[in-house]
Amino acid sequence: RVEGSMPKLIVVDQDGNETSYDVKSGQTILDVAYDEDLNLPCECGGSMACATCHVIVDEAWAAKLAPKSEDEEDTLDLCFELDKNSRLGCQIEITDELDGLKVKLVG
Ligand code: FES
Repeated sequence: RVEGSMPKLIVVDQDGNETSYDVKSGQTILDVAYDEDLNLPCECGGSMACATCHVIVDEAWAAKLAPKSEDEEDTLDLCFELDKNSRLGCQIEITDELDGLKVKLVG
């Protein structure tokens, strides 16, 4: 990975507002949530115990992400508004290949 590259993450919040963030390659959505104060609580700090980091990945990007682990699947089962593209934000690492990734916050 190129040191210092800044892929973009497009976030659609719960009100439908779209914001683009420059993130450091390798950061997770959880990291961005903390840095940018997103409305995504991430209560367990990324240990796949809470599901409050629930996001829905834009259809165009869903297949480009690393597949879900069994633990991620199990935790996602706790979510109410489960979508086929639902993921845990703490498990999505944003790399240069994912520049322009778009996710909708659920929380
Ligand atoms: Fe708790 Fe992601 S932060 S499951």
